[in-house]
Amino acid sequence: MNAQKRIEELRQLINYHNHKYYVEAKPEISDRQFDQLLDELEALEAKHPELITPDSPTQRVGGSPISEFVTIRHRVPMLSIDNTYNAGELREWDRSLRKLLPKQTIHYVVELKIDGVAMNLTYENGLLTLGATRGNGEEGDDVTHNIRTIPEVPLRLNTKYPPKLFEARGEVYMNRADLVEVNRKRIQQGLEPYANPRNLAAGSLKLLDPKQSAERKLHFFAYASGAMEGVSVKTHTELLELLKSYGFAVNSHVTRCENIEEVIEVCQSWSEKRRDLPYETDGMVIKVDDLEQRNQLGTTSKFPRWARAYKFEAEQALTRLARIEVQVGRTGKLTPVAHFEPPVLLAGTTVSKASLHNADEIARKDIRVGDMVVVEKAGEIIPQVVRVEKSARTGAETVFEFPKHCPVCGSPTKQEKDSPFVMCTAPRGTCGAQIKRKILQFVRRDAMDIEGVGKSLVEQLVDNDLVKTIPDLYRLDEAQLLTLERMGKKSAQNILEGIAASKNRGLSKLLAGISIPNVADNMADILAQEFLTIDALMNASEERLSRINGFGPERAKGVYEFFRSESTIDMIEDFKELGLKLDETKREFPAASNAKQNPQAQGGGQSIVGKTIVVTGTLSRYERSEIEDLIRQLGGKPSGSVSKKTDYLVVGENAGSKLEKAQSLGVKILTEDEFDQLIGKN
Ligand code: IVH
Repeated sequence: MNAQKRIEELRQLINYHNHKYYVEAKPEISDRQFDQLLDELEALEAKHPELITPDSPTQRVGGSPISEFVTIRHRVPMLSIDNTYNAGELREWDRSLRKLLPKQTIHYVVELKIDGVAMNLTYENGLLTLGATRGNGEEGDDVTHNIRTIPEVPLRLNTKYPPKLFEARGEVYMNRADLVEVNRKRIQQGLEPYANPRNLAAGSLKLLDPKQSAERKLHFFAYASGAMEGVSVKTHTELLELLKSYGFAVNSHVTRCENIEEVIEVCQSWSEKRRDLPYETDGMVIKVDDLEQRNQLGTTSKFPRWARAYKFEAEQALTRLARIEVQVGRTGKLTPVAHFEPPVLLAGTTVSKASLHNADEIARKDIRVGDMVVVEKAGEIIPQVVRVEKSARTGAETVFEFPKHCPVCGSPTKQEKDSPFVMCTAPRGTCGAQIKRKILQFVRRDAMDIEGVGKSLVEQLVDNDLVKTIPDLYRLDEAQLLTLERMGKKSAQNILEGIAASKNRGLSKLLAGISIPNVADNMADILAQEFLTIDALMNASEERLSRINGFGPERAKGVYEFFRSESTIDMIEDFKELGLKLDETKREFPAASNAKQNPQAQGGGQSIVGKTIVVTGTLSRYERSEIEDLIRQLGGKPSGSVSKKTDYLVVGENAGSKLEKAQSLGVKILTEDEFDQLIGKN
């Protein structure tokens, strides 16, 4: 069989099994067999790059990160739907429709309202050309790079005769289990958990790098259409069949109803059952089935007349707010936290406390200690106090006052005029809570990655006054560490080695670690690449900062002020004295001049600029993240999987299938020593 034929056959097979697995949940082959098909296709495409097409299943996650989002205008606006909350409101809606369509029979379709992010997918001549968020309904963001990674999204419509234009609409969502996992990791990293699946799905679609969003395990259900040319349907039921035949996942819980009483029964039947679904729903959507009738009904200024959402009531519980504790955050912000007695069971978990956010929120809801309060889970995840049951007041309730002094360090607290937040005013390093959180932020894996320094050690170091500022970490010695509980000589040495090794992480990782307001890890990297040295960054004007891609005036102001504060200036001075690496190598060198600019290449090595390098197995001198950072610094592109685009595979001990694959593709294979030689490192 010739290569082209086999490639086509493999693509069909892979799409078929992908559909069986993700859309129908009825896999016919094992994961291993599936991987073999994909490997065979990748190998063939590597030999025949001219045969690679954008709809090949190998091209889902291959895209490179984008630098910013492009706004696009929807061909057909994406409307939202008016809400109803009970049977009476549904009946009223039905009456109003029958008045507008006298003598006609109206059939309804009832679907689950998936709690995710609405998406419009454009297919031109069958090929996926655009995935865009709803945005404000008229204009949204182009997120095609992330949409392509979702397994239920066909890259090409499964039809011999594709329409000229077809837009599928639906919901990008996440399964509850994956969501809980993402939040668990965020809490570990000291980040705010996502309040609901919608925010998380939206956050994931906003990632610039498709590899990261692929890790978020997004899914897609199709439930509507946008613009269409060259295809037509008469009813919503027909549309859902068409979507299925094109290869989309359509939610299986769809019911066609003859009248509104049937609709009500279906809606009510889901109020409890929905908790057994693997994904979150926040109601039902009811749509008129006949598209001609929809046409006649039209839309109001905001909503279509032919659809309604039926919202489930969030589960609520009544309990006593026994006390309010104040937590002190990394930035010194005091957060009031309500503790409930007894704890209550809500949406499957026991809830004993909830953030009250800030002073304004407490005043607005008039929450007092001792009150009976109604608690619910916002978006089914984060508990919150909805309101006070004032009729239950006995007069013994007390108005909560923020402490005048920080509960952790005793410094005075203060609330600025325009801010709802009360802050600890402790000067640098004197508030234990702040410094602990700041240090954890600094040592975490995606920042300075200091091995051996975790939460319990940081607590001990701060509680024992061994560390008051981040630079103090670098001043620790063995004798000091040995004074800590259960600390042995070997562990102490390992910790000191871990700390010393982090001195060379460079500017990007350092900026990610020092808690610059509103600067996440990717922004820290952008800053490092833009300025290359800490001094250049510290000297940058507010206006210069605001010109950086992704920086608005507000973020620019935050960064500017951060580097003007005395505590930051002192910290950076300390870093300089302690010998931390405070610069970064520009990543993309122009190929010709690279050797001159690249210090490592000057040492006799060869340029790896633009080269795609995969690392596999266990190396003796580098951690995986270390060598990947090094590759990046030298202008190369570290990658996780071997393909025909791979320039080098660096192998360590116990290398497995990647090595075999590289051999079969003829990729150049390097040992760790050979890699060091390549980059001119002795
Ligand atoms: S139909 C004009 N069907 O709910 C009607 N929407 O405000 C187009 N949603 O923005 C939407 N599940 O994000 C429809 N089965 C479903 C849905 C659904 C969730 C979301 C969608 C929309 C919002 C309605």
